[in-house]
Amino acid sequence: MKKIAVIFGTRPDTIKQAPIILRLQQEKKHFQVLSIATAQHRSMLDQVLKVFGITPDYDLDIMQPKQSLATLTRNIITAVDDVLVKESPDMVLVQGDTTTTIIGSLAAFYRQIPVGHVEAGLRTNDRSNPFPEEINRRLTGCIADLHFAPTATAKKALLRENVDPKTVFVTGNTVIDALQIAVRKKYAFSLTRLNTLLQEKKRIVLLTMHRRENWGEPMRGACEAVRELAIRYPEINFIFPVHLNPIVREVVYPILDPLKNVQLIEPLDYLDFVNLLAASSLVITDSGGVQEEGPALGKPILVLRTVTERPEAVRYGTVKLVGLDANKIVSSARRLLDNKAAYRKMASAVNPYGDGKAAERTVGIIKNYFGISKHIVKEFSPR
Ligand code: UD1
Ligand code: UDP
Repeated sequence: MKKIAVIFGTRPDTIKQAPIILRLQQEKKHFQVLSIATAQHRSMLDQVLKVFGITPDYDLDIMQPKQSLATLTRNIITAVDDVLVKESPDMVLVQGDTTTTIIGSLAAFYRQIPVGHVEAGLRTNDRSNPFPEEINRRLTGCIADLHFAPTATAKKALLRENVDPKTVFVTGNTVIDALQIAVRKKYAFSLTRLNTLLQEKKRIVLLTMHRRENWGEPMRGACEAVRELAIRYPEINFIFPVHLNPIVREVVYPILDPLKNVQLIEPLDYLDFVNLLAASSLVITDSGGVQEEGPALGKPILVLRTVTERPEAVRYGTVKLVGLDANKIVSSARRLLDNKAAYRKMASAVNPYGDGKAAERTVGIIKNYFGISKHIVKEFSPR
């Protein structure tokens, strides 16, 4: 029996660890799962835990309003270390690129506990973009013993960095496993206002923004662009669940709140969010996860970034990088909203990120690592 500690703490890493936790829980004969929530996020984390029915074994309750990266780092490392000492897990699993990810893996390394990195190998090769995630990923890649790369591109990036090929596996991204659990044909939103909005049968543009490198002027520019679009298209509903970070809210609310057809709402629980995504015509976002979910649902995504560590859907043509330039955001959105052929071309459903079996593959590889099974796990490749 192996004890696997799964560490998570923010909205996205929890969504993407959830399918692995659920899968490990099915293997009671082989694994004891220890779920450790740093709670780097609080209510945005609790929303996800509720959807997946996960109660953390440890909730470290780290979040503080406007927390600095240094405070966050200090608080996570001591709290995680206490749990690792008490529980002595056989392996620690971290996901993605957050402070929880890098510090969780560092804490495990210091205690000489093997680390598995879920969603390994994403790179922009620009140290400041996204900040601090690009460096968090590279550092986690240095520490990890097993690298679960979501795509062949991510695997190649790791091999270029001389990571031992025997430790790298293309699993697909667990975000698609989660999406397959969450998106429903007939869905009643828990936020009743969304049911009312959807009954209006108007087109929906869905918005999200939160990236640190976009704080301040770039984010203000993007909001001005959305304002211009909302004025030009009064017949479209722009729905924007605003991240709880006060630094984001201070920019977004003054510019967009006065507009009648822009609905600024609180972060949605995951089920409401992905089902709203499925009902939207267009998405404008700087999110990593939404760049993976949109293509799977055939939604054109305009990405508010100059570079992306998720180039696959850009290659397929479903995602377009528009940066933070207001003119480019407006012209790209107008082309899609006005030109049916351009829209259709971009709205094809493609799934470079997964087939819903990423958690199964990940757990299969962990079983091989511990000699529990010799079954050869076939790598994910998109059809
Ligand atoms: C973090 C991650 C980022 C990830 C994002 C997903 C780091 C450095 N950043 O960014 O990689 O893309 O989460 O959303 O790990 N807050 C609340 N309630 C919540 C969550 C956040 O009030 O439930 C507020 C708090 O004031 C908190 C602030 O948001 O201090 C920032 O949270 P933090 O986790 O430091 O950074 P994010 O910008 O959310
Ligand atoms: N999401 C959510 N509610 C929202 C907005 C997003 O549940 O109001 C989900 C979304 O489906 C995706 C994830 O949060 O899976 C993305 O998180 P975020 O954009 O905060 O972080 P990133 O992916 O950029 O690290």
